[in-house]
Amino acid sequence: MHIRKNIKSICLLAVAAGVILLNSCAKKEEAFINRKVSFNTDWSFHLNDSIIDKDTIGSTTKWRKLDVPHDWSIEGNFDEKSPAGYGGGALNGGLGWYKKTFKVAAEDSTKVTSITFDGVYKNSEVWLNGHYLGKRPNGYIGFQYEISKYLNYGDKNNEIIVKVDNSKQPNSRWYSGSGIFRNVWIETTDKLHVAQWGTYVTTPKVTADTASVNIENTIQNQYSTSKKATVTTTIFYGIGNDLRRIKSTSQNITIGANANQTSKQQIQVPNPVLWSVEKPELYTAVTEISLDDKIIDQYKTNFGIRDFKFDLNKGFILNGKQVKIKGVCLHHDLGPLGSAINTRAIARQLEIMKEMGVNGIRTSHNPPAPELLDLCDKMGFIVMDEAFDMWKQTKTKYDYGNDWDKWHKKDLIDQLLRDRNHPSIFVWSIGNEIPEQWNEKGVEIAKELAAITRQYDKTRPLTAAMNPPVNMNIDAVTLQFEKKDVSINPLAGSGVLDLIGYNYAHQTYEHHQKNFPNTPFIATETTSGLQTRGYYDAVSDNIKKWPVRWDLKFTEGNPGNTVSAYDQVQTPWGSTHEATWKVIKKHDFLSGMYIWTGFDYIGEPTPYEWPSISSYFGIVDLAGFPKDVYYMYQSEWTDKTVLHIFPHWNWKAGQTVDVWAYYNKADEVELFVNGKSVGKRAKKGDDLHVMWRIPFEAGTLKAVSRKDGKVVLEKEIKTAGNPSQLKLTADRSTIKADKNDLSFITVDILDDKGTLAPNANNEINFSLKGNGKIVGVCSGDPVSHEPYKGTKHTALAGKCLVIVQSGDQSGRLELTAKANGLKQSTIVITAE
Ligand code: GAL
Repeated sequence: MHIRKNIKSICLLAVAAGVILLNSCAKKEEAFINRKVSFNTDWSFHLNDSIIDKDTIGSTTKWRKLDVPHDWSIEGNFDEKSPAGYGGGALNGGLGWYKKTFKVAAEDSTKVTSITFDGVYKNSEVWLNGHYLGKRPNGYIGFQYEISKYLNYGDKNNEIIVKVDNSKQPNSRWYSGSGIFRNVWIETTDKLHVAQWGTYVTTPKVTADTASVNIENTIQNQYSTSKKATVTTTIFYGIGNDLRRIKSTSQNITIGANANQTSKQQIQVPNPVLWSVEKPELYTAVTEISLDDKIIDQYKTNFGIRDFKFDLNKGFILNGKQVKIKGVCLHHDLGPLGSAINTRAIARQLEIMKEMGVNGIRTSHNPPAPELLDLCDKMGFIVMDEAFDMWKQTKTKYDYGNDWDKWHKKDLIDQLLRDRNHPSIFVWSIGNEIPEQWNEKGVEIAKELAAITRQYDKTRPLTAAMNPPVNMNIDAVTLQFEKKDVSINPLAGSGVLDLIGYNYAHQTYEHHQKNFPNTPFIATETTSGLQTRGYYDAVSDNIKKWPVRWDLKFTEGNPGNTVSAYDQVQTPWGSTHEATWKVIKKHDFLSGMYIWTGFDYIGEPTPYEWPSISSYFGIVDLAGFPKDVYYMYQSEWTDKTVLHIFPHWNWKAGQTVDVWAYYNKADEVELFVNGKSVGKRAKKGDDLHVMWRIPFEAGTLKAVSRKDGKVVLEKEIKTAGNPSQLKLTADRSTIKADKNDLSFITVDILDDKGTLAPNANNEINFSLKGNGKIVGVCSGDPVSHEPYKGTKHTALAGKCLVIVQSGDQSGRLELTAKANGLKQSTIVITAE
């Protein structure tokens, strides 16, 4: 909301916030216009299925104060009978109400005010002061309502009410979360302004010497008279605070009363600094609109300059260099935080992925929070931005398929308008494993979606994450879809897609150029390996397909619903981690892959059903702790020197144990048990690990990697004694006192000598002193039913996570962890 300030405070505020002052503050009062402010705080919430319309909210209705983003489902208990099913995480939906009372400055009555919701799951309806603003069924897309004419200005209150109906279940194949789960904003502008998502920046020609930057602005005139305005675009190198002005261009335009007009400008940027995965360099375009020499609107767009293509023979080429896409698919939930977005939590996920060597993210299977895309721009990820998990044909009874006819066009256009300036986005995906791909109806829909996509953005290829497009007569593939008679998937054969993208069936990748000689390839989704962190089956070199077939009930499995963390268990449609990477690695024309999944997520606990409630697919578990295969990728995908040995070293005397090592930059690894060599191993051919099968003997397991006879790395694992103490380690020990920032604190259960107790599963109790709160606890155990929102949790394989959030005051946050019979531990986090 716009609060008028005197010119001095505007300048100070602007400098403090790092906003751009295009002209000196002394000369131009209007130089800084803050269009957008957060509208996240001080909401009231009520969860009740019995209130059916806003008029039945009575004076006795009990409201709870909270800030959004908020996910009410994560606050509930896991429920075997939940209509969401274990696939939806066994957490309940329901019907929730939010309301908020607020005032708007009298001076804003001459302006245009809008409210923007970045995402509300789902079926939101909004009223302001009793006026119905509208409905949005899709839970993942942002939407905006103009509210100027319904607002009370000055001292009179306004009331906004939001109904969120996630009661019809199931409506998702994974945990969706419920509520206003993304940010809310108020935007206040002059009546003449850049429209919502109104700037479109493209870089059609990029050479080392110069880049042409095209800037299209949709200017909206809500005055009842036509206006002569000047549109100025200035390009800065950098984003945020650190900006260097490059060039400006201005244009005079006349816009009719109550009309929109597009202005087109071009700027040549000399010696452009290119956006890449390693150095994601960014620019900012600032659009200013002036009326009578006064700046009345200012709108910032971050963008990048890069040149890319998908080549039939060489795969993905970025700025002239071949780059293999080493991507992961991510669902939107943030583990124990549920689906309520938190920028720091997303950043942490991406940091953990970067450390592993990941350079690509697929936003499976829906538009992500805008903050994820901003982070991908800044951190350097190759994003596949996906629109839908289904078209008209539903996958679950109450899903978006029911809204398809009325909404798909608008939802897709809004996604494109919202996202198309992000330099990190390289591919649009119009759908995931869409049932209609198997018939001509699907081709028709794909043509419509492709036409829309190309109308709004011609700079990126589009694909669909199909099922295997060719019947290769491979049991695993044909059995999955039982399409023995299909030789080519109609969607794949239609020529609509710029990239042939399909999920799994890595056995077919090598035949791609034969099957589709004219269309480049991307493995939209791969692998679906399964693991429980820290759990190991005795024999590691037999590959298990769990379940045996996708449509057969799973009758095997381990007690306690565990899955071995050796890379030996896969879904029948997928592969082990090693198998798919070996193929992708081998051929240049295979541009890359997006692994299912980077992180575990809530719901879809394949191969198990209840009592499992979260996935086993993640390379990293729900708490953010890497499983062992993380280090296989790290050894292949990064420059780090890696030597990772596993499993732990706590077994029964004499028991045969398989010891694996992932390593790089070495010719061999030698393993020692209590100082005695048990042999040297070296990877041969396309091997990605080495293994020893040895009898267990308590003590120390030590691995030494060597190159040309010289030691590269040494790693030791010791047999742990009884659990004796807790150790706390924070990912960040200083956080911002802004009510949002988070410290992720790892709890390790150690023996008295400080060795991790790998089988410890003690219940840990947490308490916090200071201005902050515990907002999540998690061990990564897919079978745990303890609430993520509690203050106690049972560890898995010696580890647990607790997440602390700052309040709005600076100071010490003192977290203590206690467990029966163990020495407690305290850690101090500073909020400032
Ligand atoms: C795919 C699907 C994903 C997930 C995965 C599990 O077929 O696209 O959403 O369900 O299987 O293996």
